[in-house]
Amino acid sequence: MKNKLVLVTGGAGYIGSHTAVELMNEGYDVVIIDNLSNSEKSVLNGIAEITGRNPYFEQFDICDKKKLENFFRVYKKLDAIIHFAAYKAVGESVEKPLKYYQNNLNTLMNLLEGMVKHEVPHFVFSSSATVYGQPDELPVTETAPFKPADSPYGNTKQIAEEMIRDTVNASPGLQAISLRYFNPIGAHPSALIGELPRGVPNNLVPFITQTAIGLREELKVFGDDYNTPDGTAIRDYINVVDLAKAHVVSIKRMIEHKSKDRLEIFNLGTGKGSSVMEIVKAFEKSTGVKINYKIVGRRTGDVESVYADTKYANNELGWKAETGLEETLLSAWNWEKNIRKKA
Ligand code: UD1
Repeated sequence: MKNKLVLVTGGAGYIGSHTAVELMNEGYDVVIIDNLSNSEKSVLNGIAEITGRNPYFEQFDICDKKKLENFFRVYKKLDAIIHFAAYKAVGESVEKPLKYYQNNLNTLMNLLEGMVKHEVPHFVFSSSATVYGQPDELPVTETAPFKPADSPYGNTKQIAEEMIRDTVNASPGLQAISLRYFNPIGAHPSALIGELPRGVPNNLVPFITQTAIGLREELKVFGDDYNTPDGTAIRDYINVVDLAKAHVVSIKRMIEHKSKDRLEIFNLGTGKGSSVMEIVKAFEKSTGVKINYKIVGRRTGDVESVYADTKYANNELGWKAETGLEETLLSAWNWEKNIRKKA
């Protein structure tokens, strides 16, 4: 039987590349669309080295409707689309809101329109726990209400989920799963793919690994006066390979008609919150490398504490995060060492 074909938009990016690998390991064929605006073509070599085969690759911007229409005509029989391609820098989105609305919403609208027209039945959307803001109750369940978005970036995720809901309601042939990620970290255990932030990293773990390797002088810990046991903010850090596997499970679920609804929403986290200082300590313990850090003021827009209630994803989706925090941090460190060796 022919393999199922899945389009992964943003498949040269951090989570997209790990998901392409897991799909290919499970026998799917993968076609990646990426405009390489925040990723490197060499990522495709990493994917090929791990899986032993090449994904199809098309380099263009999904905002370009003509090119996308042409793509749908060439790749006639897509079984599913996983949509990662989006901008994700919170701070930049505050400075350049229209850049975020234009890119994150146009790409989604063009894809959904194309899916309806060309009868592609299954859609997985890369959403974020940012839609919850600071939830009233922890751990946060999928039924928690959206809070006013802290940033244009966060708002694009909220609007996107609403656009998907409305489109699914209006399109009997379309099914979707929206996956709300908590904090994805780490790299593939082969150290052949991982996170490749350009410039100064915004996120905690790349900043830690770059400090450890000597690229940054010190980590700034944003605030130690939160109402948490050690005063630093709490997040739910999830291994990127575990996260990638949830996408494969989601695709299978839809293909095998196991969905309970034509639009389903799942939290992807571990269910366990860790503070910034716990992450620093866990990194030091697993790698043996000391991190130079300084406590500074809070970062604007940061919430105090957020971690997932994973029951629904565990029981209904049949997926669970499995990799421990120290192993995940070690994978991030091995990846950092590997890329600096190449540079
Ligand atoms: C951020 C975004 C989130 C987005 C995600 C992926 C905000 C408010 N949220 O999540 O919407 O989906 O990135 O891009 O920006 N920290 C430090 N020092 C650093 C960096 C981070 O102390 O140099 C702290 C932060 O204050 C936070 C924790 O580490 O408490 C995690 O930060 P980060 O990795 O940026 O993720 P989020 O802010 O949770």
